[in-house]
Amino acid sequence: MTVRQSLPHDAAPLHVTGRARYVDDIPTASGTLHLCFGLSDVAFGTITALDVSAVRAANGVVDVLTADDLPNGADVSPSAHDEPLLALGEVHYIGQPIFLVIARSHLAARKAARLASVEIDARRAILSIDDAIAANSRFEEGPRIYQKGDAATAIDAAVHRIEGSMEIGGQEHFYLEGQAALAIPQEGGDMLVHSSTQHPTEIQHKVAHALNVPMHNVRVETRRMGGGFGGKESQGNALAVACALAADRTGRPCKMRYDRDDDMMITGKRHDFRIIYRAGFDDTGRITGVEFTQYARCGWALDLSLPVADRAMLHSDNAYLLPNARIESHRLRTNTQSATAFRGFGGPQGMVGIERVMDHIAHALGRDPADVRRVNYYADMDAGDAGGRPVPQVDTKQDCNAPPEGASGQKLDEEVPSDVDLTSRGAVSSVPSGPAPEVPENAQTTPYGQEVEDFILNGMTDKLLSSADYTARRAAVAEWNATNPILKKGLAFSPVKFGISFTLTHLNQAGALVHVYADGSVQINHGGTEMGQGLFQKVAQVAATAFGIDMPSVRITATDTGKVPNTSATAASSGSDLNGMAVKAACDTIRERMAGFLADYYQAAKDSVRFEGGEVRLGTECLSFAAAAQLTYEHRISLSSTGFYATPKLAWDRIKGTGRPFFYFAYGAALTEVVLDTLTGENRILRADIVHDAGASLNPALDIGQIEGGYVQGAGWLTTEELVWDDAGRLRTHAPSTYKIPACGDRPVVFNVALWEGENREETIYRSKAVGEPPLMLGISAFLALSDAVAACGRGYPALDSPATPERLLAAIQRVRG
Ligand code: MTE
Ligand code: MOS
Repeated sequence: MTVRQSLPHDAAPLHVTGRARYVDDIPTASGTLHLCFGLSDVAFGTITALDVSAVRAANGVVDVLTADDLPNGADVSPSAHDEPLLALGEVHYIGQPIFLVIARSHLAARKAARLASVEIDARRAILSIDDAIAANSRFEEGPRIYQKGDAATAIDAAVHRIEGSMEIGGQEHFYLEGQAALAIPQEGGDMLVHSSTQHPTEIQHKVAHALNVPMHNVRVETRRMGGGFGGKESQGNALAVACALAADRTGRPCKMRYDRDDDMMITGKRHDFRIIYRAGFDDTGRITGVEFTQYARCGWALDLSLPVADRAMLHSDNAYLLPNARIESHRLRTNTQSATAFRGFGGPQGMVGIERVMDHIAHALGRDPADVRRVNYYADMDAGDAGGRPVPQVDTKQDCNAPPEGASGQKLDEEVPSDVDLTSRGAVSSVPSGPAPEVPENAQTTPYGQEVEDFILNGMTDKLLSSADYTARRAAVAEWNATNPILKKGLAFSPVKFGISFTLTHLNQAGALVHVYADGSVQINHGGTEMGQGLFQKVAQVAATAFGIDMPSVRITATDTGKVPNTSATAASSGSDLNGMAVKAACDTIRERMAGFLADYYQAAKDSVRFEGGEVRLGTECLSFAAAAQLTYEHRISLSSTGFYATPKLAWDRIKGTGRPFFYFAYGAALTEVVLDTLTGENRILRADIVHDAGASLNPALDIGQIEGGYVQGAGWLTTEELVWDDAGRLRTHAPSTYKIPACGDRPVVFNVALWEGENREETIYRSKAVGEPPLMLGISAFLALSDAVAACGRGYPALDSPATPERLLAAIQRVRG
């Protein structure tokens, strides 16, 4: 079988030799025009005068557009139609596009964009979470609340209690390839768009809307992105729409790519959060009740903030069975970039909240934090209650709690315009997700009432803590800290349980198109996009396995809205689950047709036909796959098929917060050791050990790559990556000179990554599991290890905020000594 093999990324040779084509590398016709936005330098206000005559007169400029030139408004929002391509009289953040320059070169467009004279009557901007709370600036009237049991009563009755608050910073995607689009006008008003996007259908929809044509006039092609990380789920809309409008107007190909600084100023980032918590627990650290209040800073427009904030709520249990829980979520509107999808999609923030609670409880009790985590785990289901605990009774009748009458969650649904792109995660479904599935009495359930049927973390934790020698190293760290006054070490374990599926249930579908040519070569196409994660290679392995042929026989092609329509974003880690199944369905259809014909032709039993090793065998006959394809063709049988897949078992009410939003969970466990210089706050990750669950991996090498990259990206988010806005609302960290992503030198010195051996108990593609996002949250252990090192400096609890920059670490050291 070709699946399960550690084959290299299909484009690896192209990547490392610089021959992989990204949007900006596509050869363009002479006469291609280049675009650049002119940006607001005021965070909030009314445009009182806009004079672009100097821009128009600048060298190389062909045209300049303002909102007045866009009769259709050209909205670029993935959700609520609240993002005009160009500011409509008002500006809402520093970096918002106000006008569009169309010029003969990229440089000419950029230079000209600086020449406008814009007068803005500035108003007091709402920038921080505190500003937004004070001004009651939100996207929904009140908070959304998910509840299980009665948390307040349980906390009040508990033997021990803690409470606290934590700031969690945002994160810039820093995809190496910036946002880019190229629109090429075709005959009869058609438009071809090349876009660096995770969501070609969304681009098609927004371009069609801006051009006021049906979707069938627009074709979007995406061969690859140089990284997306969620930042290209909706943020590419503006460039594609701008290029299409300019191409339509000028009749010439139009291209746009953001310079890195513009990219960071214009586009949304990970939502920063404040999480306030209160928990009650017993002497062992076992939680009896917990309350979270989550404040999400969403920026100026809605974008995907509602489902992001939902996912933060859905991950505030992480790996722990919470008998009583209340999660309250506030979605705040601020005059900053519109925060968007970022690997984990809110899940990481929710998970940091509960991991902070675990850490705080362990400190309060003076118990080993790994033990406190384990007493709170869900029970392993497959291997019985392996090291877990008996499943406590839960009063299921109290499981859910609808928001108060008239809560805006409902209202917003009704207000969403009917032409919203239903394939966006920001959309609202008109199809009610079915009734919540029956959950057996005594089942262990999440705070949103989903039964946890596939828990394996007890076994995984045993394996990791023993292979990483936890007990001995815990003692060694304690001994080091007792004898070293300046350099302190920290060691921390953290688990991950991450829900797989789009929480907007109808997005969990995918299509594919597979052709077998008469020479036996195969071309596959599906709705997923390649952003470096290796999706195309995994899906090609699925096709090769289905036909029993070798990899060179399978050709991977660019994602194309003309081949597979109505696709979902490649997101929520579900790319291989969905598209792998859709491609397999198409291959199976063709294989069935071939087998049926060949069985007839050779007078053999159909079920004796085998596709293996590049051959087709039936009875005593054996012919090459190519010969079989040719014979089938000559007998006028179609060798082409579409395939379709829809994820089963999902039923979820996002307003009430009850049901089964996830098909299954992916698990991981990490142990990180750090050393911290208590004089400077500088630190290093000395060692990280990871066991991660990718089910029966489709490609272990690619999955390990995802795990390593995810861990480092997660650790970067919580340690060095700091976004700083000044008092005027200007992002000050808008280039690599001021924004510190991890470099290869920041990788753990010792980095041991192992895959958990075990298949998905659900029927996913070859029983594999999604792997794209979950490992990011393994990086939480690096943050906790720093907290552990700080705790070694005194008696107090570090109460470290994120990112744990040297400044914050030094402040925390002061606190624990104080
Ligand atoms: N890996 C690489 N190299 N580049 C990326 O942009 N994006 C991540 C993850 N891994 C990303 C990545 C995100 S946010 C998601 S949702 C998944 O990949 C999407 O791909 P998949 O569904 O095929 O795993
Ligand atoms: Mo990933 S944040 O779901 O694109």
